[in-house]
Amino acid sequence: MEALPTNPAAVRELIAELEREKSEDKLGTYKPYAKQKAFHEAGATYRERLLIAANQSGKTFAGGCEVAYHATGKYPNWWKGRRFDKATAGWACGETNEVVRDAAQRILIGRPGAQGTGTIPKADILETVSARGTPDLLDSIKVRHIDGGVSIIGIKSYQRGREAFQGESLDYCWCDEEPDAAVYSEILTRTNINAGPVLITFTPLKGMSEVVRRFLIEKSPDRSVTSMTLDDVDHYSEEEKKNLLRAIPRMSARPVRRVFLPSAVVASFRLPKKA
Ligand SMILES: Nc1ncnc2c1ncn2[C@@H]1O[C@H](COP(=O)(O)OP(=O)(O)O)[C@@H](O)[C@H]1O
Ligand SMILES: [Mg+2]
Repeated sequence: MEALPTNPAAVRELIAELEREKSEDKLGTYKPYAKQKAFHEAGATYRERLLIAANQSGKTFAGGCEVAYHATGKYPNWWKGRRFDKATAGWACGETNEVVRDAAQRILIGRPGAQGTGTIPKADILETVSARGTPDLLDSIKVRHIDGGVSIIGIKSYQRGREAFQGESLDYCWCDEEPDAAVYSEILTRTNINAGPVLITFTPLKGMSEVVRRFLIEKSPDRSVTSMTLDDVDHYSEEEKKNLLRAIPRMSARPVRRVFLPSAVVASFRLPKKA
């Protein structure tokens, strides 16, 4: 067996190497919290899924891990969610070009300049195709699938409007924050052929849209809702949680009314004005 280094410089180098390996294979080390796991598992039974969770609790990370599993086929042993056994085509969506770049895209492939430190293992990123108009925004990511095929993840922003969501057939779609009803209905059409999963990761502080209301109020055997609070996650100290919660009222500029959700959560919704 190779002896471990003892001189400090070599030890530091070894630690840096191990850290790099870990950051370049986040998927292999993802240990979902119970609520994240429940959200993934619901994919086996429900076509449309909503994860309502507090800011910074791990919504985008959970969505990004699920997308990376569908793209690589490297489902872990604990996976009980929806499963594809061939290369897939899917979308990762967000509100604006900048937001989708800084949230969903960053979680999938890492920050610009640190490509390969997201949820898609560095070794499986075959190609990234740049989008036009917004610096560092990608149009799509090509990913090696374990069956030998190539998966594609398109990066989309709702800002581009319903037309940008027309055309392709998809295996799945991930919405990091919910789209408006017109875009959402387009996304359901795109994923219709095999009743492909549509997952939405959502922060309630932003208010309740028509799409979210559909999940919360119009119950359907197609739709599931999982809610997660900061008490469901382990990556913050009690002090950090207090600070995050203290930040919430400052984020609500307009008056809010409380909505009580089953086993939820997170502060308050801003209810839309009655028509
Ligand atoms: N299961 C988990 N284990 C460890 N850390 C996690 C887990 N889920 C999320 N995190 C960490 O929580 C932080 C916030 O996650 P993120 O998904 O960006 O939050 P948000 O809910 O605001 O989208 C990230 O640094 C992420 O690494
Ligand atoms: Mg997020």
